[in-house]
Amino acid sequence: MTFPAFQKRVLNYAGRMRILSGIQPSGSLHLGNYFGMMLPAIELQSRGQALYFIADYHSMTSLFDAEKRRCNTMDVALDFLACGLDPQNSIFFKQSDVPEVTELAWILSTLTPMSLLEKGHSFKDKTARGLPVNHGLFAYPVLMAADILIYDSNLVPVGRDQKQHVEMTRDMAIKFNEQYGQTLVIPEPQIREEVALVPGTDGQKMSKSHGNTIEIFGEEKAVRKKIMGIAMDSRTPAEPKPDADQNLAIQLLKLVAPAGEAAQWEDRLRAGGLGYGDLKKALFEYYWNYFAKARVRRAELKANPDHVQMVLTQGAIRARGLAQGVLKRVRRATGLE
Ligand code: ADP
Ligand code: TRP
Repeated sequence: MTFPAFQKRVLNYAGRMRILSGIQPSGSLHLGNYFGMMLPAIELQSRGQALYFIADYHSMTSLFDAEKRRCNTMDVALDFLACGLDPQNSIFFKQSDVPEVTELAWILSTLTPMSLLEKGHSFKDKTARGLPVNHGLFAYPVLMAADILIYDSNLVPVGRDQKQHVEMTRDMAIKFNEQYGQTLVIPEPQIREEVALVPGTDGQKMSKSHGNTIEIFGEEKAVRKKIMGIAMDSRTPAEPKPDADQNLAIQLLKLVAPAGEAAQWEDRLRAGGLGYGDLKKALFEYYWNYFAKARVRRAELKANPDHVQMVLTQGAIRARGLAQGVLKRVRRATGLE
């Protein structure tokens, strides 16, 4: 990755590349979240200064139950920590513990054309379906831009559905810099093509809103039922399947099984003689083993909520310090100070 002169200066100032991502506390996290965003984020922890947060302000655009938000926030913290987010190696915090981000969102909103926000996926989808849209949802990309820009982030690991938001962030930062002088770092999205769109149990994008998810920490019986319920075509087991690579169970199995073993299952399906039931049983076993260690870690963390709370509190203190520095730069550049 090459950086223009100003960004190099900020990079040098910060010393390391900044990596940032967030996830909403809007329900149980699933394999799409894990492979699309969490695993890449966890793997990037050692590559720079990583900041990961729970986007509770964002969840307010569609979740209106306070207790649920509180529970979901704890669950996301447990899931992320259990999966390998290391608070020694990254800053992990709750978005609303850094309220400065809402001030930057306001400042950015004054430079954001309505026409840009009207192109936003979530806004467009909801209006197309005739659903009511609140201002928060309309302005969602501005808050997300503030999340990214307030930490001088260089790299934003996300699934493909978030690419548009990072591109809007870049537009806002460029506009700001043109208007007020070089102030904000222009971020890059990081999207892993092989997991950019993890399919759900119905073959559509796996998503909480489609009811087709396999949870990372789902209950054994419930997940087994979901996996065994994945719809397959009506070809007999004996028939060769030249399109084995398109098979949904194979696609999911490739995520959770060692590469060599996944290739063997695919070959067996292609050759004929492997029934879909046996394939789905294997998928469940690989899935269950893949998260076995994380499941144990999650139970340990769950028994120690004070520790989790402390991680988030300490993360917020560090994140807030960084955010206040960038906001000061912004306030000076805009004449607020
Ligand atoms: P959902 O669609 O279930 O509401 P979110 O929109 O909260 O999920 O996504 C959180 C993060 O997980 C984002 O970075 C998003 O791109 C990623 N993500 C969600 N679903 C998938 C998927 N099916 N494939 C790849 N990445 C995904
Ligand atoms: N919009 C993201 C999602 O729904 C969550 C998010 C909020 C985010 N702010 C962010 C992701 C900043 C990356 C960077 O998944």
